[in-house]
Order: sequence, then structure tokens, then C-alpha cells
Amino acid sequence: MNQVDYLRISLIDRCNFRCQYCMPEGAELDYILQQQLLTDEELLTLIEEVFIPVGFTRFRLTGGEPLLRPRVVELVEAIASLPDTQDLSMTTNGFLLAPIAQQLYDAGLRRLNISLDSLNPETFDKIIGNRGRSQWQKVWDGIQAAHRVGFDPLKLNVVVIPGVNDQEVLDLAALTIDRHWHVRFIEFMPIGNDRLFVGNGWVASADLRQCIRDIFGLTESFVRGNGPADVFQIPGAKGTLGFISQMSECFCDRCNRMRLSADGWLRPCLLNETGQIDLKTALRAGVNTAELRNQVQQLLLMKPEINYKQRDAGTTGAYSRTMSQIGG
Ligand code: GTP
Ligand code: 5AD
Ligand code: SF4
Repeated sequence: MNQVDYLRISLIDRCNFRCQYCMPEGAELDYILQQQLLTDEELLTLIEEVFIPVGFTRFRLTGGEPLLRPRVVELVEAIASLPDTQDLSMTTNGFLLAPIAQQLYDAGLRRLNISLDSLNPETFDKIIGNRGRSQWQKVWDGIQAAHRVGFDPLKLNVVVIPGVNDQEVLDLAALTIDRHWHVRFIEFMPIGNDRLFVGNGWVASADLRQCIRDIFGLTESFVRGNGPADVFQIPGAKGTLGFISQMSECFCDRCNRMRLSADGWLRPCLLNETGQIDLKTALRAGVNTAELRNQVQQLLLMKPEINYKQRDAGTTGAYSRTMSQIGG
């Protein structure tokens, strides 16, 4: 069984986009109230006194959109400067990134994953649910800024949606030929969006790889990361291609992560709430951190069983919470 040492921390459940696959139209989203969010101080206490002591050393900041969190740069700096933080990364939609990319880097963030589902502004706006002025350019500027500042590896996440952006796979893959970027194609998951997920709801990574191999060729490759991507490369390309295949090849039994929601619930699995712990309420009730460490250790012991159960249940069920609520 894998060591579980990777914590995905949702900083906020809100987002300035409304991607169809993540926050589907019509889904009633009950946002977490401000006073229910973990404060910076509570979050740092949990990281320092609970998560690091039980063995977590790799942290990813997610959302919603993590850059909407007030004082996010200061928070990054505080987490990055803890002596036991071995890896700190962030997954963002990139819209607010350009003006603060340098500050985030200077604060100690080194790895960024940015969503980019389309190179076509019209398709992009359709996916993110934008009916106003196109938002694509600002995201592209964010990616360019991250590149200039030196984030490495810099990963672009593409959720492949049949009939919407699957015809762009070759163009997106081609971005890696002369750029040191890592484009990852993600199989679309039915999380809180099963109404959208009809018929051929997702495209298998193996089919995408075949399509890319036919045109450009593909060899196996490697890029630093903690996630489930299988990594390949177009021969001679500067960057790589990753494939995240949670629908066609369940990777639950090699899962190495837990998730902390913005309101302080520790969740052992993306798809399964078994055993989750309300750390914020406990902390606010005065439970000491030694006791919380104990509870998290118990949950770590339960995790292998949860992983196997989830592997057998698969990832194709319908879930009541959306990705933005769970934290990506
Ligand atoms: P690195 O490899 O460290 O760069 O990160 P990552 O791939 O874990 O992070 P990212 O936030 O970019 O996640 C990419 C995608 O992987 C998510 O959108 C999910 O589709 C998928 N994913 C991440 N974690 C899980 C998980 O625990 N279970 C499942 N089924 N899918 C996951
Ligand atoms: N299926 C697959 N990936 C998803 N993401 C959000 N919702 C889904 C879904 N239903 C991805 C986003 C982002 C990452 C954190 O999660 O593209 O890159
Ligand atoms: Fe926002 Fe990311 Fe969800 Fe899109 S995928 S709505 S950018 S949290």
C-alpha cells in the first residue's frame, strides 16, 4: 500500500468560473459561509501540529479557485517555509494569476497546474459558463506569466468532453513540442454533474493516446508530480503529455492522498465520505492537537480499506457534491 503523504487543501469553495463539469448549471451550490472557513491560523495549526507530525509532507492548494482566498500569497509563504514541507503546489484556473505569479513564486510556490480546456476562446467561454467578454486571454496571460516567472513543472489540465473540446486534442498536445509545458488530458468524471454526463460522457485516455501517436508518435516519459497521470512525450518535444484515466483505469488502490475541505473536513477519498473528520469544529471546541493527530492516524489506518472498496465500486457512480465543493 502506498504511503499517504499528499494533502490536497481546498482554500475556498467559491470560483470565478463555472465550468460545466465542475459546477454544472442548475446545481444548487451552497457556498460555505465566511465564518465556517478555516482561518489561516487554524489551517497552519493543522498543517504544523497535525498533518506534518503524522507524515504528510506534500501539499497542494486547490479550490474552488484558490487565488480567490484573501492573503493567499502570505499563506503560501507560511506553508512553504515550514521545514518539513517537501512539495507545495497549486491547481488554479489561471484567471487571476498573471499579476501575482511572481509573488507566488517568491513566496516559495514552485509547481502550478492550470486548467486550459480549449485554445479556442469561444469554446473556452462555453465550457467555463461565461456569457460576457471572453476570459480566455486572461488565462493565457496567466499561463505565459507563470512560464516567464519560472514555475517548473508547469502543467495544463484539459478535461476532455466529447463533442465540446475533443477535436482540439492534437492542437493542445502540440503545445508541448516547443514549450517546456506538460499538458494533461483528464477523463471527465461524473461528479455532481450526471445530467451533463449522458451517452458517451467521456473519452478514454487509450483512444486519445492512439490518436496522438498516429500523428506525432509517443514515447513513455516522466515529470515530477504526486498525482495519477501516466506520462508520455512526443519524440523530441520539450514538454510532456499526461493522461489521467480515473474512468478507464481505476487507480484507487495506489491512492496516496487525502483532502481537506475549506471548512475543515478531512476526507480520505474524493468519491467516498467514509470516516471523514470535522477538524475545524473539533479545533474550535478546544480539542487539543494531540487528540486530532490520533484521529487522523486512525483514519490513515482505515484508508487502505476505503481505497479497495472504492476501487470495487468504481468511479462511475453519481455523486451529490460537485468537484468545486470537494476541492478538486
Ligand atoms: P501532480 O501530479 O502533483 O502535479 O498533481 P495532480 O495531478 O494530483 O493534481 P491536479 O489538481 O492537477 O489533479 C488532476 C486531476 O486528477 C483531477 O482533476 C482529477 O480529475 C484527478 N484526480 C486527482 N486526485 C484524484 C483522486 O484522488 N481520485 C480520482 N479519481 N481522481 C483524482
Ligand atoms: N472530471 C474530471 N476533472 C475535473 N476537474 C473538475 N471537475 C472535473 C470532472 N468532473 C478538474 C479541473 C481541474 C482539477 C482540479 O479538477 O479541470 O484541473
Ligand atoms: Fe472553477 Fe476549477 Fe471548477 Fe472550473 S474546474 S469551475 S475553474 S473550480
